[in-house]
Amino acid sequence: MLIAVATRKGGVGKTTIATNLAAHRASQGHAVKFIDADTDEYGYMWGMLRRHKEVTPNILLAKMTGAIYSDLMAERDAHDTVIVDVGGKNSPELIYAVGACDVLVVPAEAGQFDVWSLTAMSTMIREMHASGKTFKVIPVMNKISSDDRSTLTANLETEFEKLEEVFGLKPHKIVKRNAFSWAAAEGRGVTEMKRSRDTEKAQDELLELYGRVFA
Ligand SMILES: Nc1ncnc2c1ncn2[C@@H]1O[C@H](COP(=O)(O)OP(=O)(O)O)[C@@H](O)[C@H]1O
Ligand SMILES: [Mg+2]
Repeated sequence: MLIAVATRKGGVGKTTIATNLAAHRASQGHAVKFIDADTDEYGYMWGMLRRHKEVTPNILLAKMTGAIYSDLMAERDAHDTVIVDVGGKNSPELIYAVGACDVLVVPAEAGQFDVWSLTAMSTMIREMHASGKTFKVIPVMNKISSDDRSTLTANLETEFEKLEEVFGLKPHKIVKRNAFSWAAAEGRGVTEMKRSRDTEKAQDELLELYGRVFA
């Protein structure tokens, strides 16, 4: 199966979510290929760091840009799990990754630009669904502040509800937590870190998302 982590907005946690899903999927005994389809290549760098630090299990790595649809479909057939990370703008890679995916994870942060970016994503998803592509969509509200009471978060939730027929009612929520940065610096996912008071909440939130993605 192919999981695309994609939206038309940068800095919302696409690479964080893609690398964490890849790491946990691999730790569950699945052969995982991580495809970085963002020219910025942070996901690829994470994979190289993982290799350098000899973190196991191994995750296969590739970079792909441009007209990647048929290559993605071939990868989807060749591997148990393929995870594709794309750049935060409207790009051919984003469109092809969404076209090739079985599950689309759409992260967003609380903020007006994110609200606008969801409208653009929902139009694209609707078009894809209308053309006969049948993929599951999982919205994620990421980087929520732990004491969040802001209207921005409420606005984002309302926007997801307005676009309910595309996104479903309940976005998955991930709070802003240092554990994600610590894990990335080790070439790991949060679930590969020692469980402690500092990591357990990030681990639980990631595990819940993992459960939804691979249900
Ligand atoms: N849940 C989170 N908690 C804390 N920091 C996060 C979280 N998600 C992402 N980040 C941080 O936010 C920044 C942008 O995340 P990144 O995954 O690179 O976004 P994108 O790939 O969408 O551009 C990075 O510094 C990353 O470590
Ligand atoms: Mg990224």
